[in-house]
Amino acid sequence: MEIRNSVALVTGANRGIGKSFVAALQKAGAKRIYAAARDTSSLDAVVASDPGRIVPLKLDVTDPEQVQAAARQAADVSLLINNAGVAVYGGFISTQDPGGSRQEMEVNYFGTLDMVRAFAPVLKRNGGGAIVNLASIASLVNFPILGPYSASKAAAHSLTQGIRSELSGQGTQVIGVYPGPVETDMAKGLDIAKAPPAQIAEAALEAVVTRTEDVFPDPMSTELHGGLRHDPKAVEKQIGEMRPE
Ligand SMILES: NC(=O)c1ccc[n+]([C@@H]2O[C@H](COP(=O)([O-])OP(=O)(O)OC[C@H]3O[C@@H](n4cnc5c(N)ncnc54)[C@H](OP(=O)(O)O)[C@@H]3O)[C@@H](O)[C@H]2O)c1
Repeated sequence: MEIRNSVALVTGANRGIGKSFVAALQKAGAKRIYAAARDTSSLDAVVASDPGRIVPLKLDVTDPEQVQAAARQAADVSLLINNAGVAVYGGFISTQDPGGSRQEMEVNYFGTLDMVRAFAPVLKRNGGGAIVNLASIASLVNFPILGPYSASKAAAHSLTQGIRSELSGQGTQVIGVYPGPVETDMAKGLDIAKAPPAQIAEAALEAVVTRTEDVFPDPMSTELHGGLRHDPKAVEKQIGEMRPE
């Protein structure tokens, strides 16, 4: 689908990759952009950049009532970008925050699932449209330093595959995005090369236009994806060397 004159909704639009999605949508000529965040005051600067086009929306993706209200308010959406996510550093066993593993599933998997369920009829009414899910390269191989997060992103990847099939009948494109580390708050503890968030957002929107289903938007994700196709066990061993403390 074309981005020009589309109506998009971005979850977690107040910072990081979500904020870059709003900017990329503006640049690409979207007609209206619903910028969703848990705290709408955190969207003030985003909205001020283009108040005529950017509509703030209060949305915690783990709150079913807010998800339903968003689907009612943003009934003209044809491009849904499920970007909101949380990451708790640590392994399955070594984590200092065991409850964080449940929260990761709540946001990264169930939050995305609830958004998709609420917006599938909206997209259908608006001609099919597209869904972009922010997965991660950690969806495809477990990173022990982010063990439970990787599991939640693997669930989001499986969801992406399943809804691609289920929604094909209504003409909804489903795109999975699988970045490596990105220069945002989420990755600030990682001392490795990181891609700029704008690069991720722009690659994802390009995939919407070109109908590309799986997006590997940065050098690390491209390299690991290549390795996974060639020798998945070797990639598992390589990433497994990065152990949590
Ligand atoms: N950064 C990376 O290295 C990287 C790599 C691969 C994939 N990703 C994925 O890319 C997406 C964006 O990540 P990021 O790097 O931009 O992270 P970030 O800077 O930490 O931003 C996370 C965003 O998600 C929002 N959020 C968290 N819980 C939410 C909830 N329950 N309901 C609604 N919004 C919620 C946050 O809102 P608040 O401000 O209210 O907390 C914030 O806007 C995530 O899905 C992440 O897993 C990131």
